[in-house]
Order: sequence, then structure tokens, then C-alpha cells
Amino acid sequence: MGQRRMLIAGNWKMHTTLGEARALAAALREEAGGLSAELLVCPPSCWLSAVAESLGAGVALGAQDCHMQASGAHTGDVAAAMLAELGCRYVIVGHSERRSDHGEDDAMVRAKARAARAAGLVPILCVGERLEDRDAGRAEAVVAAQLRGSVPEGAGGANLVVAYEPVWAIGTGRTAAPDDIQAMHGHVRRVLGEIAEAASIRLLYGGSVKPGNAAEILGCPDVDGALVGGASLRAADFLAIARAAPAVD
Ligand code: PGA
Repeated sequence: MGQRRMLIAGNWKMHTTLGEARALAAALREEAGGLSAELLVCPPSCWLSAVAESLGAGVALGAQDCHMQASGAHTGDVAAAMLAELGCRYVIVGHSERRSDHGEDDAMVRAKARAARAAGLVPILCVGERLEDRDAGRAEAVVAAQLRGSVPEGAGGANLVVAYEPVWAIGTGRTAAPDDIQAMHGHVRRVLGEIAEAASIRLLYGGSVKPGNAAEILGCPDVDGALVGGASLRAADFLAIARAAPAVD
């Protein structure tokens, strides 16, 4: 684990009313002190300002997506610099739901990661195989191709986080086995080593992480945190996951 501080990130997706978002942020603010892990929430973009006000400084703010251009005629999209101005430090790019709902491919994900960096944000770049890839024995090849196609040049721990999220484990209650997670994370770090400063890059696992499985997942040597969907919508569950993160010296 070395010097990589654990990052526990909550992806609220298209959930919460404004009132619920404020309440969740306030509950996290109350309890965030004293955690060894870094805590991050990524609310819907329209709630970012309100959540920023309710969160305080102890919990980081992130967005779920950004556009690849710095500005322009892109109706409905949000630029990375706008997110930075609202107080975001991170932005998720290439989530599998963006890939499937909006046809985002690796080249677009790389362009988004570059745009995020240009605006001073740290992209959380998501990769992960589908069930048919795993069943066909090509999970590692698929993830390697995604990394080679989407990680921007000059990547290192200060400007990139990678999240491994097997598509079949997202929102399904099915979690990858810790041995499989560690094997894939080791593979991701090796592939990153060909193209980036791999040792310092934090690798998050995502896919049905919950309080009951967090300790064994976060205990894997190449797992540096979690990207949490469903369980991040309940403050008590999200905090329990954060407390399960081993302290890093
Ligand atoms: P989940 O979502 O925790 O609900 O499986 C994870 C994600 O999509 O980031």
C-alpha cells in the first residue's frame, strides 16, 4: 500500500432530491472527522453547490462526468472548469453507465480525462469487463485495452485515480471475489506501469461494495479504496465502509 491514502468515493448517480442530498452531506460532515481514509461524494451535478455548502472541508466533492471540451456549443453538458469552480476536486470519467447510456468509448474517456486535468481536477477513470468477457476468459485483455485506450499521457498518482468496476457487479449485489479483485488490480497496475507512474496511482474497486464486504475488499494489497454506488446513499453504510479501510502509514 505504501503511501497511497485510501479513497472512499460515493457515486450518487441520478438519485436524491435536493433535500436528501443536503441531509446526506450534513450527516457525512458530522461523522467524517477522524477517518484515516479520504472521503469523497459525487452528487448529481445540479446539487453540487448545495452539497458543497453542507459538506464542509472534511469531505471532498466530485462530479460524475464532464465534457471533453473546455467550453462551447454543447447543450446540456458541463465543462470541467465549471465543476472546479463549484469546488470539485475529482470527476468520474468513463463509468460503464456512461459508456452504455451515451456510447462513450475509450478515446472519449481519454479526452474527458485530459479535460479534467486541464481544469485542475483529478479524473477517476473507470474500467471493467462485462460478464460475457469474464466468462470467455478475456476480462484482463478487455481491461488492458481500456487502459491503453483511455489513460492520458503523463498520468501519475497526483493526477489520476483508476476504478476497476466489473460491469456485472454494479448494482447487482454480486461482488467479485477478493482473490479475483486482487488479481485484476495487480494486472491493472502492471498495465499502467507501461504507460504511467503506476506505483502512486490509487486503484479503487467498485461493484456492490457494502459494509459487510468492505474490509476484505479493502484489505487486498492493490486496492486503494472503493467507488460505492447504492451503499453511498445511506450515511451510516458509507461511513462503515470508510471505517473498514485500513490505515496507511
Ligand atoms: P454499486 O455501484 O455500488 O451500486 O454497485 C457502483 C458504481 O457504479 O460506481
